[in-house]
Amino acid sequence: MNIDVFTLFPEWFQWFASQRHVANVLAAGSRLECVNPRDHTPLSGGQVDDTPFGGGAGMVLRVDVLDSALRARYGVDPVQLRSRRRVIALAPGGRLLDERLVDELAGEPELTLLCGRYEGFDERIIEHFAGDVVSIGRYVLSGGELAAMVLCDAVLRKLPGALGHERSAAEESFSAALEGNPEYPHYTRPAEYRGWRVPDVLLSGHHEQIERWRRERSRERGAGSSAGGER
Ligand code: 6GU
Repeated sequence: MNIDVFTLFPEWFQWFASQRHVANVLAAGSRLECVNPRDHTPLSGGQVDDTPFGGGAGMVLRVDVLDSALRARYGVDPVQLRSRRRVIALAPGGRLLDERLVDELAGEPELTLLCGRYEGFDERIIEHFAGDVVSIGRYVLSGGELAAMVLCDAVLRKLPGALGHERSAAEESFSAALEGNPEYPHYTRPAEYRGWRVPDVLLSGHHEQIERWRRERSRERGAGSSAGGER
């Protein structure tokens, strides 16, 4: 998978890309690259944002600056771009990122992520350049970068080579194998600590009983949360 992130803070992603599971996927042939709109602005002094029409606090990322940056990257009118590749603007009011959307995005060959800063984007960027608007939760971050990293993390770990065990991804929380429920609890040594014992069934060696116990715990956790429900 090839991911391009449009951000005024590309250096944040160097740390992210150096994390083991991300580095593994990149070594296996995926790409994560940043484009800084400031490097492509047609305005003087590296200007990328401006005060909002109608007044109000904060600054808004300009549509002409994103137009230039996207055009420089892809060599086409950005209006045409979203029919060729998935272009996603990250903004707090967008479609909530959940496991279903992550799976959908993990199937894309290419993603373009647009990170807004300050008060966000000129609405025309969203209207004309972005195919989707995605949010990671109903709270406001100071920019789209952390949300883009969350999205990249969730998507990249689905790709071959990210995890040591391919099986760990198939049976994890919200997977089809667990009927969309959260994962069952895990335990490791010591089997008893301060009187807190690991459930006997897990020490029993009875694989069928262990499987059944895990399904039941997973289902219980699903019933107690919004997992699988809120869509
Ligand atoms: Cl995608 N962006 C910002 N700025 N804040 C957010 C968000 C995105 N998702 C949740 N909060």
